[in-house]
Amino acid sequence: MGKRGNGETSRTVNQSDSQSVWKSTSARTKRGTGAWKREVLFVLLTLSCASGCNASIPEPESPAAQLYQKRCSICHRLYAPRLLTSEMWQFMMGRMEMEMQRRSVPLPPPAERATILEYLQKHASNAAG
Ligand code: HEC
Repeated sequence: MGKRGNGETSRTVNQSDSQSVWKSTSARTKRGTGAWKREVLFVLLTLSCASGCNASIPEPESPAAQLYQKRCSICHRLYAPRLLTSEMWQFMMGRMEMEMQRRSVPLPPPAERATILEYLQKHASNAAG
């Protein structure tokens, strides 16, 4: 705030006015939409947690589920695999690795990463079986 419009004072009043209004409106719209989407996703996941969190992950004794618990409950509670589609899990793995790097949490080695992703996808909302 306050930064936008610097250096535009020398232009004709009309031109710089309409330009900066247009610019700030489109910037605001873009930012607003992103935040809105994220919030909805977050609320959806939080709500579905009432019936689908922690206690009820599939095959809890399997090595894959153990790995999932170990690696993915460091920063937040576990999300049930069936909350997301296979594609979304793939996307989330990448995003979570960025979060891990940002917070200096060690990344799972490739073999563990593959096991976790496979487990999540096997039980994803759009999984075959
Ligand atoms: C370094 C901390 C950290 C670790 C470890 C971590 N997460 Fe996350 N996770 C976050 C943060 C921060 C958010 C919320 C912000 C966001 O959604 O980007 C989040 C949100 C999520 C969400 C909700 C998506 C959303 O947009 O709200 C899912 C699903 C998820 N994580 C899955 C995982 C899985 C699977 C793993 C293990 C591979 C994992 N997380 C490990 C930090 C972490």
